[in-house]
Amino acid sequence: MERRWDSLLFVVCLILSFAEIVNGGITSSYVRHANFSLDMPLDSDVFRVPPGYNAPQQVHITQGDHEGKGVIVSWVTQDEPGSKTVLYWAENGGLKKLAEGFILTYKYYNYTSGYIHHCTIEDLEFDTKYYYEVGIGNTSRQFWFLTPPKPGPDVPYTFGLIGDLGQTSDSNRTLTHYELNPAKGQALLFVGDLSYANDYPFHDNARWDTWGRFVERVAAYQPWIWTAGNHEIDFAPEIGERQPI
Ligand SMILES: [Fe+2]
Repeated sequence: MERRWDSLLFVVCLILSFAEIVNGGITSSYVRHANFSLDMPLDSDVFRVPPGYNAPQQVHITQGDHEGKGVIVSWVTQDEPGSKTVLYWAENGGLKKLAEGFILTYKYYNYTSGYIHHCTIEDLEFDTKYYYEVGIGNTSRQFWFLTPPKPGPDVPYTFGLIGDLGQTSDSNRTLTHYELNPAKGQALLFVGDLSYANDYPFHDNARWDTWGRFVERVAAYQPWIWTAGNHEIDFAPEIGERQPI
Protein backbone atom coordinates (compact mmCIF):
# COMPACT_ATOMS: atom_id res chain seq x y z
CA MET A 1 0.00 0.00 0.00
CA GLU A 2 2.78 2.36 0.96
CA ARG A 3 4.45 1.71 -2.39
CA ARG A 4 1.29 2.70 -4.25
CA TRP A 5 1.15 5.99 -2.40
CA ASP A 6 4.80 6.57 -3.20
CA SER A 7 4.28 6.04 -6.90
CA LEU A 8 1.12 8.18 -6.90
CA LEU A 9 3.05 10.98 -5.20
CA PHE A 10 5.80 10.58 -7.79
CA VAL A 11 3.34 10.87 -10.68
CA VAL A 12 1.67 13.93 -9.15
CA CYS A 13 5.05 15.61 -8.65
CA LEU A 14 6.02 14.76 -12.21
CA ILE A 15 2.82 16.30 -13.61
CA LEU A 16 3.25 19.42 -11.47
CA SER A 17 6.85 19.88 -12.49
CA PHE A 18 5.93 19.58 -16.17
CA ALA A 19 3.04 21.96 -15.69
CA GLU A 20 5.45 24.52 -14.27
CA ILE A 21 7.96 24.07 -17.08
CA VAL A 22 5.41 24.19 -19.87
CA ASN A 23 3.21 27.01 -18.63
CA GLY A 24 5.27 29.99 -19.82
CA GLY A 25 2.15 32.11 -20.26
CA ILE A 26 1.46 34.46 -23.13
CA THR A 27 3.54 37.63 -23.13
CA SER A 28 2.56 38.99 -26.54
CA SER A 29 -0.40 38.91 -28.88
CA TYR A 30 2.01 38.68 -31.82
CA VAL A 31 1.43 35.79 -34.18
CA ARG A 32 4.09 35.15 -36.77
CA HIS A 33 2.68 34.84 -40.29
CA ALA A 34 3.51 31.80 -42.33
CA ASN A 35 5.22 33.41 -45.35
CA PHE A 36 8.64 34.95 -45.67
CA SER A 37 8.42 38.69 -46.23
CA LEU A 38 10.59 40.23 -48.93
CA ASP A 39 13.43 42.66 -48.39
CA MET A 40 12.36 46.27 -48.64
CA PRO A 41 13.28 47.78 -52.04
CA LEU A 42 16.43 49.85 -52.37
CA ASP A 43 14.47 53.09 -52.76
CA SER A 44 12.61 52.62 -49.43
CA ASP A 45 12.71 55.64 -47.15
CA VAL A 46 14.37 53.61 -44.37
CA PHE A 47 17.42 53.19 -46.64
CA ARG A 48 17.69 56.85 -47.66
CA VAL A 49 21.21 58.28 -47.79
CA PRO A 50 21.45 61.43 -45.65
CA PRO A 51 21.56 64.54 -47.87
CA GLY A 52 24.74 66.44 -48.71
CA TYR A 53 28.22 65.65 -49.96
CA ASN A 54 29.95 62.92 -47.93
CA ALA A 55 27.38 63.10 -45.13
CA PRO A 56 28.00 60.48 -42.41
CA GLN A 57 25.66 57.52 -42.73
CA GLN A 58 25.07 54.22 -40.88
CA VAL A 59 25.89 55.93 -37.59
CA HIS A 60 25.85 53.51 -34.65
CA ILE A 61 27.37 53.14 -31.21
CA THR A 62 28.52 50.26 -29.08
CA GLN A 63 30.00 49.83 -25.64
CA GLY A 64 33.61 51.07 -25.51
CA ASP A 65 34.84 49.55 -22.24
CA HIS A 66 33.82 47.08 -19.53
CA GLU A 67 32.32 49.51 -17.00
CA GLY A 68 30.19 51.89 -19.04
CA LYS A 69 32.42 54.97 -19.32
CA GLY A 70 33.37 54.41 -22.95
CA VAL A 71 31.42 54.43 -26.21
CA ILE A 72 32.60 53.53 -29.72
CA VAL A 73 31.01 55.68 -32.41
CA SER A 74 31.03 54.24 -35.95
CA TRP A 75 29.86 55.67 -39.25
CA VAL A 76 30.50 55.53 -42.98
CA THR A 77 31.34 58.29 -45.45
CA GLN A 78 30.86 57.41 -49.09
CA ASP A 79 32.68 60.04 -51.19
CA GLU A 80 35.96 60.63 -49.34
CA PRO A 81 37.47 59.81 -45.92
CA GLY A 82 36.39 63.14 -44.40
CA SER A 83 36.73 63.97 -40.72
CA LYS A 84 37.85 61.24 -38.30
CA THR A 85 36.78 63.14 -35.21
CA VAL A 86 33.75 63.01 -32.97
CA LEU A 87 32.71 66.17 -31.15
CA TYR A 88 30.88 65.39 -27.92
CA TRP A 89 29.60 67.10 -24.81
CA ALA A 90 27.54 66.32 -21.73
CA GLU A 91 24.04 67.78 -21.74
CA ASN A 92 24.75 69.81 -18.63
CA GLY A 93 28.54 69.88 -18.87
CA GLY A 94 29.08 72.62 -21.42
CA LEU A 95 32.66 71.90 -22.48
CA LYS A 96 32.92 70.29 -25.92
CA LYS A 97 35.61 67.66 -26.47
CA LEU A 98 37.08 65.98 -29.53
CA ALA A 99 38.03 62.32 -29.96
CA GLU A 100 39.96 61.07 -32.96
CA GLY A 101 39.13 57.77 -34.65
CA PHE A 102 40.47 55.72 -37.53
CA ILE A 103 39.26 54.65 -40.95
CA LEU A 104 38.99 51.22 -42.60
CA THR A 105 37.89 50.11 -46.04
CA TYR A 106 37.41 46.65 -47.51
CA LYS A 107 36.59 44.93 -50.77
CA TYR A 108 34.34 41.93 -51.24
CA TYR A 109 34.19 40.43 -54.74
CA ASN A 110 32.97 43.37 -56.89
CA TYR A 111 32.01 45.59 -53.94
CA THR A 112 34.19 48.32 -52.45
CA SER A 113 33.13 49.77 -49.13
CA GLY A 114 32.88 53.42 -48.23
CA TYR A 115 35.17 54.84 -45.55
CA ILE A 116 34.30 53.10 -42.28
CA HIS A 117 35.05 55.20 -39.21
CA HIS A 118 35.45 53.99 -35.63
CA CYS A 119 36.13 56.39 -32.77
CA THR A 120 36.26 55.56 -29.06
CA ILE A 121 35.12 58.16 -26.56
CA GLU A 122 36.47 57.51 -23.06
CA ASP A 123 36.19 58.83 -19.50
CA LEU A 124 32.49 59.57 -19.70
CA GLU A 125 30.42 60.17 -16.59
CA PHE A 126 27.88 57.55 -15.56
CA ASP A 127 24.17 58.18 -15.96
CA THR A 128 24.65 61.20 -18.17
CA LYS A 129 23.20 62.34 -21.47
CA TYR A 130 25.81 63.15 -24.09
CA TYR A 131 25.39 64.73 -27.48
CA TYR A 132 27.78 63.87 -30.28
CA GLU A 133 28.43 65.12 -33.76
CA VAL A 134 30.13 63.54 -36.77
CA GLY A 135 30.92 65.00 -40.18
CA ILE A 136 31.91 68.46 -41.34
CA GLY A 137 30.08 71.76 -41.86
CA ASN A 138 26.57 71.63 -43.21
CA THR A 139 26.64 67.85 -43.57
CA SER A 140 27.57 67.25 -39.93
CA ARG A 141 25.00 65.21 -38.03
CA GLN A 142 24.13 65.25 -34.34
CA PHE A 143 22.93 62.38 -32.12
CA TRP A 144 22.84 61.59 -28.40
CA PHE A 145 23.13 58.69 -25.97
CA LEU A 146 22.78 58.02 -22.25
CA THR A 147 25.62 56.38 -20.34
CA PRO A 148 24.67 53.54 -17.98
CA PRO A 149 24.53 53.98 -14.20
CA LYS A 150 27.58 53.11 -12.10
CA PRO A 151 27.74 49.30 -11.90
CA GLY A 152 26.68 47.72 -8.63
CA PRO A 153 24.36 45.11 -7.14
CA ASP A 154 20.69 45.73 -7.95
CA VAL A 155 21.35 48.65 -10.30
CA PRO A 156 18.47 48.50 -12.80
CA TYR A 157 19.31 48.46 -16.49
CA THR A 158 17.07 47.31 -19.32
CA PHE A 159 18.44 45.38 -22.27
CA GLY A 160 16.56 44.84 -25.49
CA LEU A 161 17.05 41.60 -27.35
CA ILE A 162 16.87 41.25 -31.14
CA GLY A 163 18.18 38.61 -33.51
CA ASP A 164 17.63 37.59 -37.14
CA LEU A 165 16.58 41.13 -38.00
CA GLY A 166 17.22 41.38 -41.75
CA GLN A 167 15.67 44.19 -43.81
CA THR A 168 12.15 43.16 -44.74
CA SER A 169 8.97 45.03 -43.86
CA ASP A 170 8.74 42.71 -40.83
CA SER A 171 12.23 43.85 -39.79
CA ASN A 172 10.91 47.40 -39.90
CA ARG A 173 7.94 46.39 -37.72
CA THR A 174 10.30 44.71 -35.25
CA LEU A 175 12.45 47.80 -34.93
CA THR A 176 9.41 50.06 -34.51
CA HIS A 177 8.02 47.66 -31.91
CA TYR A 178 11.28 47.98 -29.98
CA GLU A 179 11.33 51.78 -30.28
CA LEU A 180 7.75 52.10 -29.01
CA ASN A 181 8.02 49.47 -26.26
CA PRO A 182 7.14 51.07 -22.92
CA ALA A 183 9.86 48.97 -21.25
CA LYS A 184 12.39 51.29 -22.95
CA GLY A 185 15.51 49.24 -23.63
CA GLN A 186 18.69 51.13 -22.76
CA ALA A 187 21.08 48.92 -24.71
CA LEU A 188 20.44 46.15 -27.16
CA LEU A 189 21.88 42.66 -27.22
CA PHE A 190 21.93 41.57 -30.84
CA VAL A 191 22.08 37.79 -30.98
CA GLY A 192 23.29 37.38 -34.57
CA ASP A 193 22.10 37.43 -38.18
CA LEU A 194 22.09 41.11 -39.03
CA SER A 195 21.58 42.09 -42.68
CA TYR A 196 21.14 38.78 -44.55
CA ALA A 197 23.25 40.35 -47.34
CA ASN A 198 24.77 36.91 -47.86
CA ASP A 199 21.45 35.69 -49.30
CA TYR A 200 22.07 37.90 -52.38
CA PRO A 201 24.14 36.90 -55.41
CA PHE A 202 27.81 37.46 -54.60
CA HIS A 203 26.72 38.31 -51.02
CA ASP A 204 25.89 41.81 -52.29
CA ASN A 205 27.59 43.90 -49.60
CA ALA A 206 25.59 46.97 -50.67
CA ARG A 207 22.85 45.31 -48.59
CA TRP A 208 25.09 45.79 -45.54
CA ASP A 209 24.99 49.52 -46.27
CA THR A 210 21.20 49.60 -46.60
CA TRP A 211 20.96 47.68 -43.33
CA GLY A 212 23.31 50.12 -41.59
CA ARG A 213 21.14 53.02 -42.70
CA PHE A 214 17.98 51.17 -41.65
CA VAL A 215 19.03 50.52 -38.03
CA GLU A 216 20.65 53.94 -37.50
CA ARG A 217 17.42 55.37 -36.06
CA VAL A 218 17.97 53.20 -32.97
CA ALA A 219 21.63 52.13 -33.12
CA ALA A 220 22.93 55.74 -33.15
CA TYR A 221 21.20 56.45 -29.82
CA GLN A 222 21.96 53.41 -27.68
CA PRO A 223 24.73 50.80 -27.70
CA TRP A 224 24.06 47.64 -29.64
CA ILE A 225 26.21 44.75 -28.42
CA TRP A 226 26.89 42.26 -31.17
CA THR A 227 27.13 38.54 -31.65
CA ALA A 228 27.90 37.13 -35.11
CA GLY A 229 25.43 34.59 -36.54
CA ASN A 230 25.71 32.12 -39.37
CA HIS A 231 24.64 34.83 -41.86
CA GLU A 232 27.78 36.75 -40.93
CA ILE A 233 29.90 33.95 -42.38
CA ASP A 234 31.00 35.25 -45.78
CA PHE A 235 33.06 32.26 -46.87
CA ALA A 236 32.52 32.01 -50.66
CA PRO A 237 35.55 30.41 -52.33
CA GLU A 238 33.63 30.19 -55.65
CA ILE A 239 34.01 33.97 -55.97
CA GLY A 240 37.46 34.07 -54.41
CA GLU A 241 36.33 35.05 -50.89
CA ARG A 242 38.10 32.70 -48.50
CA GLN A 243 37.95 34.72 -45.28
CA PRO A 244 35.16 33.23 -43.17
CA ILE A 245 33.91 36.58 -41.80
FE1 LIG B 1 19.14 33.02 -37.73
